[in-house]
Amino acid sequence: MDGQPPTRQDREDWRLVYKEFRRWAALHGRFTLDGCADVQGRNSFVRQNFCSLKRSFLKARLSGQNVWLNPPFSQAGLFLRHLLAEHHRDASVAATVILPAWKTAPWWPLTAQMELVHVYPAGTWLFTAPGLRRRRSVGPTRWETCVFRLQAQQETRQVRQETRQAQPPWFHANRFSALAEDMEWDAG
Ligand SMILES: C[S@@+](CC[C@H](N)C(=O)[O-])C[C@H]1O[C@@H](n2cnc3c(N)ncnc32)[C@H](O)[C@@H]1O
Repeated sequence: MDGQPPTRQDREDWRLVYKEFRRWAALHGRFTLDGCADVQGRNSFVRQNFCSLKRSFLKARLSGQNVWLNPPFSQAGLFLRHLLAEHHRDASVAATVILPAWKTAPWWPLTAQMELVHVYPAGTWLFTAPGLRRRRSVGPTRWETCVFRLQAQQETRQVRQETRQAQPPWFHANRFSALAEDMEWDAG
């Protein structure tokens, strides 16, 4: 992040372009942990709190964190499994996850546990890698790239509450409408 060339080549350093990161940060709240960065945190989107090869995400406790996760795609399954295990251990874990749409990969079915919020078409200029002086684009992607959201449990409750508050007063006065709303939510 400081403009210095990296000391050693980090071949897994494919950073999402900042404009797109900002878009997801605006929608999903302030991220409290970047789950995947180089050891100096140069490619981290969260200044003070990031995981790296030195502080592996695969061993990190994630309680209460709103995680930004763009894992090395060659190990996507390991990172996804750890994230979901942490979420099942403690539902306060939330995350926004960048993954390639590799639908035949063994880990792909696990993505059904998250909400698919966006698909970038193949051919999008989405990632940069360290260059000699500054980061450079790695060129257009060869596959679709997906953005998933894993919501924390209180986040789901909060959305529900906000939706209720957004209803006009007569809505709450009508018990049947409120009941119908509950049934819709439960069916979802
Ligand atoms: C795709 S880049 C992410 C760059 C940037 N933080 C982003 O979100 O776009 C993945 C990074 O994960 C790092 N990494 C590799 N193994 C890791 C591990 N076990 N825990 C955390 N980070 C790791 C790599 O060194 C690489 O810099």
